[in-house]
Amino acid sequence: MSHIELVSIDPCTGEAIWTGTPGNVAAAIAAARAALPGWALASLDDRIAVVRAFKAVVTDRADAFARLIATETGKPLWETKTEVASVAAKVDISITAQAERAGSRTGEVAGVRQVLRHKPHGVLAVLGPYNFPAHLPNGHIVPALLAGNSIVFKPSELTPAVADFMADCWAAAGLPPGVLKIVHGGGDTGRTLAAGDIDGLLFTGSAGVGGALARQFADSPGKILALEMGGNNPLVVWDTDPATLDAVAALVVQSAYLSAGQRCTCARRLIVPDGSEGPLLDRVTALIDRIIVGAPFDEPQPFMGPVIANHAADGLLAGAALLADKGARVIRPLTRHREDRPFLSPALYDVTGLSGLPDAELFGPFLQVIRVADWDAAIAAANATQFGLSAGLIGGDAALYDRFWAASRAGVVNWNRPTNGAASNAPFGGIGLSGNHRPSAYYAADYTAWPVASLEADAPEGGIATGLRA
Ligand code: NAD
Ligand code: SIN
Repeated sequence: MSHIELVSIDPCTGEAIWTGTPGNVAAAIAAARAALPGWALASLDDRIAVVRAFKAVVTDRADAFARLIATETGKPLWETKTEVASVAAKVDISITAQAERAGSRTGEVAGVRQVLRHKPHGVLAVLGPYNFPAHLPNGHIVPALLAGNSIVFKPSELTPAVADFMADCWAAAGLPPGVLKIVHGGGDTGRTLAAGDIDGLLFTGSAGVGGALARQFADSPGKILALEMGGNNPLVVWDTDPATLDAVAALVVQSAYLSAGQRCTCARRLIVPDGSEGPLLDRVTALIDRIIVGAPFDEPQPFMGPVIANHAADGLLAGAALLADKGARVIRPLTRHREDRPFLSPALYDVTGLSGLPDAELFGPFLQVIRVADWDAAIAAANATQFGLSAGLIGGDAALYDRFWAASRAGVVNWNRPTNGAASNAPFGGIGLSGNHRPSAYYAADYTAWPVASLEADAPEGGIATGLRA
């Protein structure tokens, strides 16, 4: 009899909603490898038909799907409904992206037929995070399946139930057995999978784990490794019209606290002109004070739920305490609503002028204010990070935005919009500690297939014109 080692907890109630044991990595890889030839050699039309059937199943089961994501992550139901909609929308976006970026083309070069085609890598491992347990792994899985790869997916150990639900949707869509294998487990299982007989790995998660994977793959330069990691994202508010302050404050709050700050693109640092920050911070704090923090199915719906687990809340509270020790001015504290559950209040700390601040991603509802003397100092502060995922400017005119865009070291640069809520029909990735130049979303088509360039003729065509003895 196997004993239970994995438990998924509803963060709002503390109840176990899923139990299981760590999966057998070698067996999952072997099954995916056995299924690979049949899937890789199926026609693209056949693969598209399965992927479209998956969309139909997801659409059919959307309500149960959204409720399960809400229960397992604590995210509000209004928000998990948008996650399920993104899972379904990914299908058509990926079909278009595959045709545009990884399809076949025939041309001619100097009278010779030139053909470009793409091949799948083989067995790809997908490692997923907990914050979008369906949408983000799905963003690797759909393009990888379209390209003809088979997959071993290890979901976050915090969201195994959502992964099982997705696997059921694929089975109901008619995906042949073995083409997508789920293997449950934590970091050890992920490490074992990364070291297994795979042809590449597609990762979404923290910079620490992504870095460890890059080191693990250093001796395997022939294997594709796509890393989508976190950020320490700046949001600069500059030259704003006082008449727009309410909208500006709303954008700040959305950028920082959406999903309880558990989005890789959330703003972590708010950079403002020193001396004129008062009216903006007054509006932001007024909004913070109105934010409803609650459970996913509460009515009225909360703006945000808890963070994923008690250990995550403990880590965030420790991070906040560290900043307070260093002298941060607490504008709104990070507080825990209930001692036993991870509901946190949105926090705002002014860290201007403090030295030795960690360049770390505080993955929760936590925004740091940095006041600066001038525009150059604002840009310097925005780029004072090893991460480079998202950056935003609120205010200014087109000329100022041009300067911001040119100077920003980030893969997502927005103007007068939140830093989060990235579009699936655009590439999505970052630089530095945020990614390894393998952007996902629309460009996932690029890393899930490799190009083969051919010069072809229907019959041998040859002749040596120069350099032969008579
Ligand atoms: P995480 O790095 O802790 O875990 C991600 C996955 O890796 C999980 O499945 C985990 O079990 C596995 N893992 C952990 N240690 C491992 C190891 N040593 N070897 C192999 N696998 C291992 O990330 P998380 O806490 O689940 O998710 C939150 C993080 O993800 C945040 O940093 C966030 O910014 C980031 N994120 C990035 C993006 C993006 O697209 N750039 C999107 C969402 C989340
Ligand atoms: C995320 O992937 O964590 C967030 C994506 C977004 O909202 O921009």
